[in-house]
Amino acid sequence: MYGRDLLTLADLSPADLRLVIDTALRLKHEGHGDLLHGKAIALVFEKPSLRTRVSFERAMQQLGGHAIYLSQAEVGIGVREPVKDIARVLNEYVDCIVARTFAQATITELARFADVPVINALSDEEHPCQALADVLTITERFGSVQGKRVAYVGDGNNVCVSLMMAVAMLGGRMTIAAPPGYEPPGDLLEAAKGYAVDAGGSVTVVRSPAEAVGGAEVVYTDVWTSMGQEAERIRRQRAFAGYQVSLDLMRVAASDAVIMHDLPAHRGEEILDEAMESPQSVIFQQAGNRLHAQKALLALVLGGV
Ligand code: CP
Ligand code: NVA
Repeated sequence: MYGRDLLTLADLSPADLRLVIDTALRLKHEGHGDLLHGKAIALVFEKPSLRTRVSFERAMQQLGGHAIYLSQAEVGIGVREPVKDIARVLNEYVDCIVARTFAQATITELARFADVPVINALSDEEHPCQALADVLTITERFGSVQGKRVAYVGDGNNVCVSLMMAVAMLGGRMTIAAPPGYEPPGDLLEAAKGYAVDAGGSVTVVRSPAEAVGGAEVVYTDVWTSMGQEAERIRRQRAFAGYQVSLDLMRVAASDAVIMHDLPAHRGEEILDEAMESPQSVIFQQAGNRLHAQKALLALVLGGV
């Protein structure tokens, strides 16, 4: 994976995905030296972040390298200067650009004009780094993703898209419960179904949360209103009423089912406090795995392993 971009989860093959998981488990449990000594990454973020920023910064620090955080207030992507100029300037200073943007096209353009690898740290369309941590967490809990039933309840958003592609590539059985008009984009859904066919899994969209969660080993949800959609909040609250992970909904899941959420959570909307705080929740282990998955990704992309 040396030198490659991660603009969408689809930039990875199933073998790449397994390599990231195996490498993450190895680095997490066996430790590592300064694999990225002397390397530096730039974090160019148009949107706020807790997990992604801190886990990338700590990942570089623990691997002996350096991370430079650049907020929109400082860099002004497309405002203070054009994306293609930012890409070519950062290219002179750092070994990798990690970008969190609104438009996916901004990340694609950064990659087009930078020779160094570009990693998508969340766009309106995808959140591949989150999906890496998610499949790592499922693998830790159940031994593998293959054949596991993963229910996603709510918005077919960036998090849902990257997760569905990763689960499909690894042969999981993914069922998404979404209200009309909030399913994942059709072309990406078809792509995920294609991966699932190749890997012996499935991807299905249903309306009923109980239907998706019935017998599932993993019950996953994300916010109804993502960053940048704040003006739609009231409309979304109405559309997603009932698409809520509660202990009542968990009763139809498998007896050893886990609850996952990428965070930040809007308690009382997509998930109840009782579900977040229940023993079935692996949400904070999942957040912790952002660090381990990204250490593996950075080490692979920057040539540390
Ligand atoms: N899950 C996630 O990406 O969190 P942040 O937005 O805080 O980085
Ligand atoms: N779907 C959410 C994920 C946050 C990590 C958003 O885009 O705001």
